[in-house]
Amino acid sequence: MTLLIDNIGELVTNVAGSGEGGPLGIRRKAALLVEEGRVAWIGPARYAPAADHRLDAGGAAVLPGFVDTHAHLVFAGDRAAEFAARMSGQPYTGGGIRTTVAATRAASDAELRGGVARLRREALLQGSTTIEIKSGYGLSVAEEARSLRIAREFTDETTFLGAHMVPAEYADRPDDYVGLVCGPMLAAALPYARWIDVFCERGAFDADHARAILTVGQAAGLGVRVHANQLGPGPGVQLGVELGAASVDHCTHLSDADVDALASTRSDCLCADGGHPTTVATLLPGAEFSTRSPYPDARRLLDAGVTVALATDCNPGSSYTSSLPFCIALAVREMGMTPAEAVWAATAGGARALRRDDIGVLRPGARADLLLLDAPSHLHLAYRPGVPLITQVLHSGVPQCQP
Ligand code: NIG
Ligand code: FE
Repeated sequence: MTLLIDNIGELVTNVAGSGEGGPLGIRRKAALLVEEGRVAWIGPARYAPAADHRLDAGGAAVLPGFVDTHAHLVFAGDRAAEFAARMSGQPYTGGGIRTTVAATRAASDAELRGGVARLRREALLQGSTTIEIKSGYGLSVAEEARSLRIAREFTDETTFLGAHMVPAEYADRPDDYVGLVCGPMLAAALPYARWIDVFCERGAFDADHARAILTVGQAAGLGVRVHANQLGPGPGVQLGVELGAASVDHCTHLSDADVDALASTRSDCLCADGGHPTTVATLLPGAEFSTRSPYPDARRLLDAGVTVALATDCNPGSSYTSSLPFCIALAVREMGMTPAEAVWAATAGGARALRRDDIGVLRPGARADLLLLDAPSHLHLAYRPGVPLITQVLHSGVPQCQP
């Protein structure tokens, strides 16, 4: 079966040099052929080949699907009261994680699975065709394995975050908890995880603990990601660079040395062969929005040559949004990104943060993950904030929305 998307007014390919718009590689009056879940052909609409089915884009913009590389979807309960307290002046400390851990441990598999399914669907309808899902609200061997097993039902991009917080029962012996994470918990997580992550922050895990956990996870074959420099300055970013992390996430409080370290990883290659792998700075403006904190300075990172991604950080505490369009609008309005940079960061940037070259891009052979806007240009994602502009999402070539 083939599907032709025809009459595309603006096609964002993210193939630099293949059209206008620099890295966005914009083609006008284009068509795109989907075959067996992949992009089979892209070209001028007037040369479009015949196909079994045709989707008329009506002159609208078509973009690669969003790649959301940071989401904590396996949890129970919510923390709306904590949000309300913050909006009345209370600070965010991360301490509420333990509230969600208690609710998650008390939930059945079916409840957790239902929660993930609801949020995954919500994200998909807002254009996120790829999503990373972390554990981190179980914090015991059995509970972390359960969270990852359920996450794996929804995505291959699963991340073991046993080091999200020291659970209450280990509060006075954090070294023992780190030993548990590095030993039996990692072993139980391995069948279900692609990545390992640590919340490296004052009040969570320090540099020594984070290095120990990430190093043992890496030796076991997991890729490295780090929650770094979210609530204050700290060692997370430079630790991530030292370990060749695919991404350091948050990056809200950075020193010049942190920015230099990230910039030093700049490279066009996606993997270690042939050079130093890129460590992406993944910015999560939903967290600053929802904790009423200063936003990360994306402009500073971009001007230094750092590869930047945008993700939602969807979680019940610090960022309960599944919407990358919302994050794009925040990044443009509050973080010094141009609309083009923000769209690139939410698509191609996310793909780099997962070390993938089959997503975040529209070219022959790439996965047919894409979205149609009820707008003539990608600019409208930031220009029309809060408006449901996405009219169709194709996931591996399969339309997700009723026509
Ligand atoms: O990325 N920073 C740590 N983890 C989450 C917050 C989790 C929570 O508050 O429940 C984050 O912001
Ligand atoms: Fe997070």
